[in-house]
Amino acid sequence: MGSSSRFNCCAILFCFTFLTLNLFASATIVSHDGRAITIDGKRRVLLSGSIHYPRSTAEMWPDLIKKSKEGGLDAIETYVFWNAHEPTRRQYDFSGNLDLVRFIKTVQAEGLYVVLRIGPYVCAEWNYGGFPVWLHNMPGIELRTANDVFMNEMQNFTTLIVDMMKQENLFASQGGPIIIAQIENEYGNVMSPYGAAGKAYLDWCANMADSLHVGVPWIMCQQSDAPEPMINTCNGWYCDSFTPNSPNSPKMWTENWTGWFKSWGGKDPHRTAEDVAFSVARFFQTGGTFQNYYMYHGGTNFGRTAGGPYITTSYDYDAPLDEFGNLNQPKWGHLKQLHEVLHSMEETLTHGNISTIDYHNSVTATIYATEKGSSCFLGNANSTSDATIDLHGTEYTVPAWSVSILPDCQNVAYNTAKVKTQTSVMIKKKNQAEDEPSSLKWSWRPENTDRTVILGKGHVQTSQLLDQKAAANDASDYLWYMTSVHLKKDDPIWSRDMSLRVNGSGQILHAYVNGKYLGSQWAKYGVFSDVFEKNIKLKLGHNQISLLSSTVGLANYGPKFDLIQAGIPGPVELVGRKGDESIIKDLSAHKWSYKVGLHGLENKLYSLDSPQASKWQEHDLPTNRMMTWYKTTFKAPLGKDPVVLDMDGMGKGVAWVNGHSIGRYWPSFVAEEEGCSIEACDYRGPYDNNKCVTNCGKPTQRWYHVPRSFIENDVNTLILFEEFGGNPARVNFQTITVGSVSGSGIEGDTIELSCQGQPISAIEFASFGDPQGTTGSFVKGTCESKDALSIIQKACVGQETCKIEVSKDVLGSTNCDSSIVNTLIVEALC
Ligand code: GAL
Repeated sequence: MGSSSRFNCCAILFCFTFLTLNLFASATIVSHDGRAITIDGKRRVLLSGSIHYPRSTAEMWPDLIKKSKEGGLDAIETYVFWNAHEPTRRQYDFSGNLDLVRFIKTVQAEGLYVVLRIGPYVCAEWNYGGFPVWLHNMPGIELRTANDVFMNEMQNFTTLIVDMMKQENLFASQGGPIIIAQIENEYGNVMSPYGAAGKAYLDWCANMADSLHVGVPWIMCQQSDAPEPMINTCNGWYCDSFTPNSPNSPKMWTENWTGWFKSWGGKDPHRTAEDVAFSVARFFQTGGTFQNYYMYHGGTNFGRTAGGPYITTSYDYDAPLDEFGNLNQPKWGHLKQLHEVLHSMEETLTHGNISTIDYHNSVTATIYATEKGSSCFLGNANSTSDATIDLHGTEYTVPAWSVSILPDCQNVAYNTAKVKTQTSVMIKKKNQAEDEPSSLKWSWRPENTDRTVILGKGHVQTSQLLDQKAAANDASDYLWYMTSVHLKKDDPIWSRDMSLRVNGSGQILHAYVNGKYLGSQWAKYGVFSDVFEKNIKLKLGHNQISLLSSTVGLANYGPKFDLIQAGIPGPVELVGRKGDESIIKDLSAHKWSYKVGLHGLENKLYSLDSPQASKWQEHDLPTNRMMTWYKTTFKAPLGKDPVVLDMDGMGKGVAWVNGHSIGRYWPSFVAEEEGCSIEACDYRGPYDNNKCVTNCGKPTQRWYHVPRSFIENDVNTLILFEEFGGNPARVNFQTITVGSVSGSGIEGDTIELSCQGQPISAIEFASFGDPQGTTGSFVKGTCESKDALSIIQKACVGQETCKIEVSKDVLGSTNCDSSIVNTLIVEALC
C-alpha cells in the first residue's frame, strides 16, 4: 500500500514535470530563403550525417551520436524504414532498434538536430527499398505512381509517422529536434518511364506532405521539378555545380557519399578523406549551406534487411564512423577540422556578397564579403597541376584537386589535401575469454529436405511459376518450387541426353531431381536473369523436380524496380537431344507446389526455446555438407571492444547469436580478382566507386558484427544455417581495437595521437627531418634529428593521447638542408 501510494505520487510529479516541460518547450522556427535554412531567424551553415537507426542497436546510438557531435555535425539524418515498421499491414513494430522516437530523442539529448527522410520509399540498399512486400501483393496496386491503392497506403504510413513525431513534440515547430523532413527519394532519377502518372504522383506527394503541417521545410532529393514549397536537393559524390530549381530555395546536398556500399563479389570501396573534404569545401565555395554525409555511420544489415539483391551484411560504407562505431581515421578527424572552419565562417557564408575570380585551368577564388569581414576559398579542381594564386597581392599555392579556406581572406586555415589528423589502423584480437578459437565445440543437424526433394510436398499449388514476392510475401529468403513429370518411353523428349533448364532471376537456385541434388547457380550484383542448365537422368514414370530459390535481398533501385522478378520466373524446361534435334518440354504451366521457408526455420532451430532444441548431435560433424545446421556456445569476449564473428571456411547462410540474426554470411563469395591497384590511392581526380578499391580475390565479407547487446555475460549460443557447405573449424569470435596510429606534420604543425581509450604502448617509428612513406612502411631519410625518437617516447608512451609540436625547439635540430621542409612522422602502437 505504502509503496504503491509513493509510486502514484511520483507518477503525478513526473506527469506534472512532463507537462510543464512541454508547455515551456519553446518552438523553433525553421524556415528557408534562397541562401540557407534559417533557424529562429538566423541563417545557418549546417553539417549533417546519416545514421540509420536499424543498422545499429539502441545501445550503440548514444555513442554514435556523441561521436557525430564531436566530429562537428549539427544534425543527424535518417530514413524511416516502412517495411521494418509495418511488416504486416496495419501491424506495427517500433521496438528495439526500430524505436524511432527513442533514436530521435537520443539525438536531441546530444543537442543535435534531425533531418527525417520519411520517404517512405528509401532505396538505401535496403530490402525492396523499404517497401513492405505485402504492398506489392495488394490487388490493383502500382507502386510510386498515381495509383489510389498505393497512395492510400503511402499516406497512411507517412501520416502515422508524422503523427507519432507530433505526439512526442519532435518537430522543431513543437520544440523538438526535427528541422527538415523529406518525402519520396530521388524520384526525379526514375520518373520518365512513369509518364504523366509519374508527374501526377509527384505533385500528389508534395501536396500530401504539405497538408501534414509539420511546421518545418520539406525536401525532395534529385527532383528538379519539385513544386514549391518542396526544396529540391542534390545527391552525389560532388554537388558543387548543382543549383536548386527556385531562387527561393537554398542549395542543399542531402547525400554526399562518403564511400560506397559493397555487394557480394564486389571489392571494398574507399573514398579518401582528402576527396570527401574537397567535395564539401567546393560545395560551400559555390554557395551551399547544408551538407549531409551519406553515410556518417553505415552500420550493419542485420537479419534480412539487405537489399540489392546481393548487398553484403556489412554496410560500412567507408564512412567516418566505421561499421562498429569506431572513428575511421583520418576521415573523421579531417572532416571535423573542416567543420570547425566552415562553422567559424557562418556569418559570411550566409550573408556575404559572393564574387569569384577565375584563374583558368579550373582554378578559382571565391570571396564572401560582408561589411564586417570576408572569407575566401581558393579552389583548384585541376586533377594534376598545383596552382599558385595571387589573391589581393599575396601568393598562395593550392595543390591539385584541393581547396584552401581562408576565413579572413588572408591566412589559410585549412586545405582539403593536407591531412593533419592521425591515421588509425584497426586490428582484430582473438577472444581472450576462450582458450583457443578451436575450443568452439560444434554440434549439428541436417536440414530436413525429404518432404520437398523427395515428396515434393508444399502448401500451395498453382499451374504457373509464381514470382517469389507473390508466393512468399517476403516471409523468408527460401522458396521451394516443386513439380513432377511423368515420362513414357514414347515421349518425344525421352533420350539419353536430357537436361533441365531453368530461367532464373539471378538469385540463388539449388536444383534437386528425384531426391538427388543436381546443382546450384547464382549470379552477382546487378544481374537480374540467368539460365541454369544441367544434364539429368530421368526415369520412366514419375520424376520429382524440386527447385529451391534463395533470395539475397530484393531489388531496391531503378524505375519500377518493384516489378523485378524474384525466384524463378521461368520458363523451366526439359530438353531432350536426339542427333541435331532438340525437343523442349516446357514445365512452366505444370502443376507447381510451393513451400515457403525451410523446415529448420519453421521449427525455429535458431532460437533457444525451439521445441526441437535438443535434437542436435555431437558426433560425425560434417564439413562441406549443404543444408546443414551448426550450433556452438561461446564465452563473451572480455572488455568493451566491438565483437566480430570470423566466418573463415564457411560457405553461405545465416548466423544467429542468442536468437538474434546477425545477417546473411557468404565468405566463400570471393571479391573480383581484377581492379585493385597496387599503387597508392591517388585522391586527385573525380571519385567513383571503382577507384581505390581493395580486397581483390579475398572473401567479400569474412567478419560479421555481433553487437555487444546481443551477447550475454556468461554462455552464448551461435547457430548457423549453412546452405552451400562449409567447415566451422576456424569460425571464432574476435574483438576490434585500434592497433596503431600515425601522423605527420611540418614545422609549425601539432601532431595529436590517440589510441582512443587505451594507452600508447610503444613508438614504432619516429623521425624528424626528411622521412618518407605511408602508414606501415615509413622510412627514415638522411638528415633526421637524433633526439626526436626519445623525446616522443617520453611524451607519448603510457598516455592515451599525446600532442607533439613539430619544431626544432621541441624535437632537436636536423641536418637537412634549407630547401627541405622539416617533417615529423610518428607511428605509435596502442
Ligand atoms: C542514392 C539513394 C540512397 C542510397 C545511395 C547509394 O541514390 O538515395 O538511398 O541508395 O544512392 O548508397
